[in-house]
Amino acid sequence: MKTYEDLAGDGGSNIISQVVSQREKLRSRLDKIKNKVALMSGKGGVGKSSITANFAACLVDQGYTVGILDADLNGPSIGHLLGVGNDQKLQIDEDGIQPGQGTLGIKIMSMDMLVSNPDTPVMWTEEGGATAVWVSTMESTALRELLADTNWGELDFLLIDMPPGSDRMDNIRDLIPELAGAVEITIPSPLSQHIVAKSITKNNTMGVPIIGLIENMATYVCPHCDQEGKLFEGQDVSELADRKGVPLIGKIPFDTRVSRKTDSGNLFYTENKDSITGKAIAEAVENILNFIEKKSK
Ligand SMILES: Nc1ncnc2c1ncn2[C@@H]1O[C@H](COP(=O)(O)OP(=O)(O)O)[C@@H](O)[C@H]1O
Ligand SMILES: [Mg+2]
Repeated sequence: MKTYEDLAGDGGSNIISQVVSQREKLRSRLDKIKNKVALMSGKGGVGKSSITANFAACLVDQGYTVGILDADLNGPSIGHLLGVGNDQKLQIDEDGIQPGQGTLGIKIMSMDMLVSNPDTPVMWTEEGGATAVWVSTMESTALRELLADTNWGELDFLLIDMPPGSDRMDNIRDLIPELAGAVEITIPSPLSQHIVAKSITKNNTMGVPIIGLIENMATYVCPHCDQEGKLFEGQDVSELADRKGVPLIGKIPFDTRVSRKTDSGNLFYTENKDSITGKAIAEAVENILNFIEKKSK
């Protein structure tokens, strides 16, 4: 298959300079963001979005500026978790799209912020509502545009909430080659561990650094008495970590307060940082920070 780079000319369409200028725009946006970290699992429903949002809250608590890219174009949920409803209109000016302002000042950009604003010029809606088809077939283009058009400004961290599917890293790796690394999230169930193992293998073959493995819903914590108990029967996730040669950087309990809906978009971590689960979140974030610090030396 030929790519635009193989073209001798552009047939008058100016496509080459358009692509080059978009790449430059993407680069200048990304250069202002110090650390980019992908949170992934290969599997849905293991808590990627919840963990991403609460890690962001923990980083803000430590004085960092944070943005989240919701790369799950088909099931975006970051806006919901951070209290950015469909009513928050996107602001578009000469510097691009201004990201949504979530709780704690966390900047967010998510596909559903675009698709729920039919008045904005960023829509890809074709006649007859072809958006869903477009999104699934043109995901990489959509992500590039989301990243390149969003005026993130200066940030310490951009957390990328990845969609399920281990092949999705290709897009992100292509767009953000300087990615600090990926955090793999699993729950104790054998199926989840099996899928995460594949995702780790895929990242290894692509040379994506793996910051570590996180076991979510590792135990159950009673919100009343803070007693911890086992939630799932299953193999120990530390065995998977050993087998794949990646560090187990966090064990986050199941805590009913994580999923409790708050209208304000308040995050579990902010309200419960001294709980067992809050401390587990902080410990995992500390391990990520240590990884990044070591890498930069
Ligand atoms: N540690 C946890 N304790 C309690 N509920 C959790 C925890 N992690 C995730 N959940 C809940 O599990 C469900 C799936 O989480 P979500 O973050 O949407 O997963 P994913 O992004 O991987 O699909 C949500 O209802 C969320 O509130
Ligand atoms: Mg999600």
